[in-house]
Amino acid sequence: MFFHKSGRGRPLRGRGHNSRRGKLSGGTSPGAFFNAVLFSCAVLLCGAGFCGCTSLRTRSYDLETDRIGAGPIRIAHVSDLHSTFFGKNQEELTGRIRDLEPDLIVLSGDIVDDKRPPGGARALLAGIRDIAPVYYVSGNHEFMSGNIRGIRKELESFGVIILSDEWRKIGINGNTVIVAGVEDPFKKRHEAPGYNQEQAMADAFSVLYAEEGYKILIAHRPENIEQYKKYPFDLVLSGHTHGGQVRIPPFIDGLYAPDQGLFPKYPGGLYRHGRLVHIISRGLSKNMLPRIGNPPELVFIKISGLPSKK
Ligand SMILES: [Fe+2]
Repeated sequence: MFFHKSGRGRPLRGRGHNSRRGKLSGGTSPGAFFNAVLFSCAVLLCGAGFCGCTSLRTRSYDLETDRIGAGPIRIAHVSDLHSTFFGKNQEELTGRIRDLEPDLIVLSGDIVDDKRPPGGARALLAGIRDIAPVYYVSGNHEFMSGNIRGIRKELESFGVIILSDEWRKIGINGNTVIVAGVEDPFKKRHEAPGYNQEQAMADAFSVLYAEEGYKILIAHRPENIEQYKKYPFDLVLSGHTHGGQVRIPPFIDGLYAPDQGLFPKYPGGLYRHGRLVHIISRGLSKNMLPRIGNPPELVFIKISGLPSKK
């Protein structure tokens, strides 16, 4: 059973069926030279046995916390789809999400691409709308499309709850959970010149110190973790890195990530900052730069109370 409380007074919108077909276009791409180098590496390394670069995998995390006391919270985390298809009509991806029986589905940005047709994103939204409540935050490519407002309207037509520097309080299996979301900083460049993410977070999330519950922040960009740490979140869910494109454990855990550069500090996986857990999805896109030793991943998180609290 779910109940909702708005953090900024914006009414929740109901689930509808009238999908609007906005134009989703525009944007930029990495340099051709870098692309060619990565492609060459992909050919060589796949030939050497680093195959499976484009096969979907599910990466699971089990968390324990004293912040909840009842049944577990199950989250399916989808990031950086970039309108990629997995199976006919997106059935491989949506089937996996359904089989996980999540209480919550999180879309942490770049679900829609700025250049590719939006069919893969639409098929995802149609396939998950009846599984669990879906929460979304924007990614940089959605702003780069030049059609962020059309994308928001279309997401809402599928019943998605958009978190634009705001939060909701919901109940999941007897637990009180706060789900917050922050806009991508490209909002300033492509929609609102006066936008300041740091100020927007202060305005929206300072009150959370006074709120009870397990607190989750959805934020597309992981490199801004120092900013997210200013607020009392228990879990931050991010994407954006595509796993750093190249992974050759234990030697290379991510070769390059946007806004972090070569050998990124936060390429993907689980990071702990005191009591805060930061999980970065390596994303689902397989249409752009080659992925080497770094298959597209659906992230699943199960959060349980400590044994003494059960
Ligand atoms: Fe991104």
